[in-house]
Amino acid sequence: MASERPGSQIIGTGAYAPEKVLTNQDLARIVDTSDEWIRERTGITERRVARDDEAASDMAYEAARRALDAAGLTARDLDMIIVGTVTGDLPMPACAAILQRKLGATMIPAFDISAACAGFIYGLSIADKFVRTAACKRVLVVGVELLSRVLDWKDRATCVLFGDGAGAAVLGPAGDGDRGVLSTQLYTDATLVDSLCIRAGGSREPLTNEGLAENRHKVFMVGSDIFKIAVKNLTSASRSALDAAGFTPSDVTWVVPHQANLRIIAQVALRLDIPLERFVLNIERYGNTSSASIPIALDEGVRDGRIKPGDTVLMCALGAGISWGSALVRM
Ligand code: UT7
Repeated sequence: MASERPGSQIIGTGAYAPEKVLTNQDLARIVDTSDEWIRERTGITERRVARDDEAASDMAYEAARRALDAAGLTARDLDMIIVGTVTGDLPMPACAAILQRKLGATMIPAFDISAACAGFIYGLSIADKFVRTAACKRVLVVGVELLSRVLDWKDRATCVLFGDGAGAAVLGPAGDGDRGVLSTQLYTDATLVDSLCIRAGGSREPLTNEGLAENRHKVFMVGSDIFKIAVKNLTSASRSALDAAGFTPSDVTWVVPHQANLRIIAQVALRLDIPLERFVLNIERYGNTSSASIPIALDEGVRDGRIKPGDTVLMCALGAGISWGSALVRM
């Protein structure tokens, strides 16, 4: 398939993780688990947890400021703010609106995307369309999640998996060269909607004392359901992103995958026939930060010099919805 010319490019990245580290050993003192089980089944050793006085928009602000600095821009240069999150500061309004005020950017559209772990890829795809059509020049895309607030700390099947953090990217118009967003693919299939969700606290089941007592306002997941579909869909979405741009796996310099489980990532690597050494991995230190996981890893790869200008980067994510997607970007 012939590739379209890029319409937008990533011109800056940034990330933020709270200071407090929660290790597997710490968790083994809270629930019936062990460092060995968590490391072997997930690849996670530790994760970050936000302070009590820290909200999603505070973390988003830190990541956004770093991405703007890296792009050599201020918030006043932005035309749009998109935040992928399911743990915004308030049920209403959008976390993006609160972030807009913190950044000092005014009178530009600012909205949240509810696509769970795929939130950053959804945001990137939407931002690319706005820049590509010249409706916007510079768009800030943030993935931020404060999952520690919505975890059931008595449920060992979920509380050991997730962490808090934020990552951001600024998109601007592509230049004359071949750098830029080459293709993005988005999907949702609600067949497994009940396998990963927060059951209470929305319009279908408002909060009640009974619901609170049963922790129905916390993350619920049937992990094995999600595991199987994640391997399959992340592989096919990655292939679609490559096909749409006329690329093959051997053209990929780095894969920046959603960091949910090292075993999922290893399976995807095998199926795509891309060695695991070409994956940017930080799940060991951050766990699953949902929509923040890709932009945190992307920023890490850029800042430590692994990801260089001109490198071809494949990103893929899947989460509640289930919603998933992929993006192919020449940095
Ligand atoms: O980012 C959003 C998308 N989410 C994902 O992609 C997550 C996908 N799923 C997974 O990563 C894996 O399914 C998990 C890591 C969640 C679980 O791993 P698993 O290999 O699928 O384990 P399992 O759920 O089949 O459980 C195996 C055993 C069970 O015990 P029995 O029934 O065999 O006696 C669980 O009760 O492991 C037990 N178990 C634990 N043991 C110690 C579950 N959680 C824990 C734990 N510590 N934390």
